[in-house]
Amino acid sequence: MKIILLVFLFFTLSLFGSDFITPKEYAKMLYENPRGISCKKCHGSDGSEQILGYYINKGVKTAYKIPSIQNIGFKEFKNSLTETKSSKSIMPNYSLTDEEIISLYNYIKLKEKK
Ligand code: HEC
Repeated sequence: MKIILLVFLFFTLSLFGSDFITPKEYAKMLYENPRGISCKKCHGSDGSEQILGYYINKGVKTAYKIPSIQNIGFKEFKNSLTETKSSKSIMPNYSLTDEEIISLYNYIKLKEKK
């Protein structure tokens, strides 16, 4: 019985599959799990400034901050995702397509308004 239900579910999903995920859901999925390394882990759920941790710099406790990725222009956003990162940067290099970058950018813009 369970199997029949599953088959039915797959059938309906494949029929209407394209309607089950909105562009916003797609973008959320990308942001939270692109190529296995989530943007969210470092940039938080909305891309605002984050403190990843603390380290001791010359005896002073210093916060390791990740800059906000809200309020940046599309060009800048795209550049930081396409340029090869400096070896100092902890941000991984992703090879995202233009569509994926646009989708991610719009997602952050939506988060910004709240
Ligand atoms: C391991 C942590 C980490 C992950 C994962 C990560 N980032 Fe970053 N990101 C950083 C850090 C740190 C910076 C600050 C600049 C630098 O060190 O390169 C940064 C910078 C940026 C910038 C440029 C901000 C500016 O002001 O120039 C953008 C845009 C950005 N990240 C977007 C993303 C997106 C989108 C993802 C997911 C596809 C992502 N990042 C994943 C750590 C991360």
